[in-house]
Amino acid sequence: ISNTNEEFETTKPKNILIDYGGPNIGKPLHVGHIRTLNIGRSLYNMNNFVSNKIKSDIHLGDWGMPVAQIITYLDQNNLNADELSAEDFQTIYPKSALKEDLNIFGHTFDYWFGESDVNDLIPDMIEELKEKQLVKEDDGALVSSEDTDPKILITKSDGSYLYITTDLATTLYRQRNLPYDEAIYVVDKRQSLHFEQLFKSIKYFGFNDSKHEHIAYGTLNDAKGNPFKTRDGDTKPLLDLFEEVKEYIKKFNDELNDSTLNTLTNSVLTYSDLLSNRKTDYKFDLEKFASNTGKTGIYVQYSQVRAKKLLERFENEKTAKLREFNEAESNLVRELFLFGIYLEQCLKNYEPHHLANFLYEVSNLFNVFYEDEKFTDLKDTESLNTKLFVTNLFLTTVHNTMYCLGIKPVDEM
Ligand code: ARG
Repeated sequence: ISNTNEEFETTKPKNILIDYGGPNIGKPLHVGHIRTLNIGRSLYNMNNFVSNKIKSDIHLGDWGMPVAQIITYLDQNNLNADELSAEDFQTIYPKSALKEDLNIFGHTFDYWFGESDVNDLIPDMIEELKEKQLVKEDDGALVSSEDTDPKILITKSDGSYLYITTDLATTLYRQRNLPYDEAIYVVDKRQSLHFEQLFKSIKYFGFNDSKHEHIAYGTLNDAKGNPFKTRDGDTKPLLDLFEEVKEYIKKFNDELNDSTLNTLTNSVLTYSDLLSNRKTDYKFDLEKFASNTGKTGIYVQYSQVRAKKLLERFENEKTAKLREFNEAESNLVRELFLFGIYLEQCLKNYEPHHLANFLYEVSNLFNVFYEDEKFTDLKDTESLNTKLFVTNLFLTTVHNTMYCLGIKPVDEM
């Protein structure tokens, strides 16, 4: 085994479209976005790792409510949109800041389309559905002609579009311009009914036969189990959580540079999020999640830095000969063998937690292996070489696991 991407390259690459993130442009990123971003990026990276052709679309909420929020903001602050310069808009229009903010958390997308991008397709889409009698009038509104309970509302009685109207048109747009075998939507489990109705309608309207999956997830709550709020009762901005975590890590690691601290902060925000099954709700416990020991982003980073330092230090002492593994070595290697199995489970069930837990297990076994017999005390070159071989396999595996989870390895701790 090498645990490299060549080993897991699929022979039948699938075209996958992954829709995640989906922030609304009228508001800054908030804590509620963390799960779709983490799970979405991990699924993206894992598919990329096994050579599926995956593309991401952020599907910005730039239609309806977010636009109303911006207009309200202008109104409340007595601002006249006609008199504003592009620079003024930078400060009041979060969309312009969104890319930069996402960058802080290490997120980027192949496509930055918004809900409004498909608006022009909607009138024709509705006309065609009417002609084919796939929709019918119901109290002035349009509902799908499919016999479902509840009925699937396609447009409102005043003719205005709904969330599902844009999502249907988005499917048409994507199928025409970015054809896919499979579309994955990483969205809060509270939207399950919406996706059930969307997927039914896609089939019923004959838009396409591709596979559609709603990857639902539970809620992230604060340490007490309550929804994450600011003191004024607003949803907590994601950047505030970032700063809190960073400050906490800094207290215990004050000699680290800023870029390392940022990466560690993201490691904590990502690793703790991917550890539990995505469907369950969980509490954000800063002391537990940012601790140097236990199942934390800090601990796994610490272990891989240790391995990297060892390899650098003994780089020139490698020979070709290995001896038989001792117990600590074989325990670690046996666990490293499981990487492929966990990767497969993650992909099959769209569940990053299998690899997240694996990462802790191997890091822990590596530390046992490291403490078991000091590298500097080794008498013969075969022992040293065996240890370097195991360390090397550990490091490759861990770096690939971290990539699959969306965690960047740091160079120092
Ligand atoms: N903007 C939506 C929200 O805030 C999420 C969009 C998810 N993607 C989709 N194609 N519906 O709830």
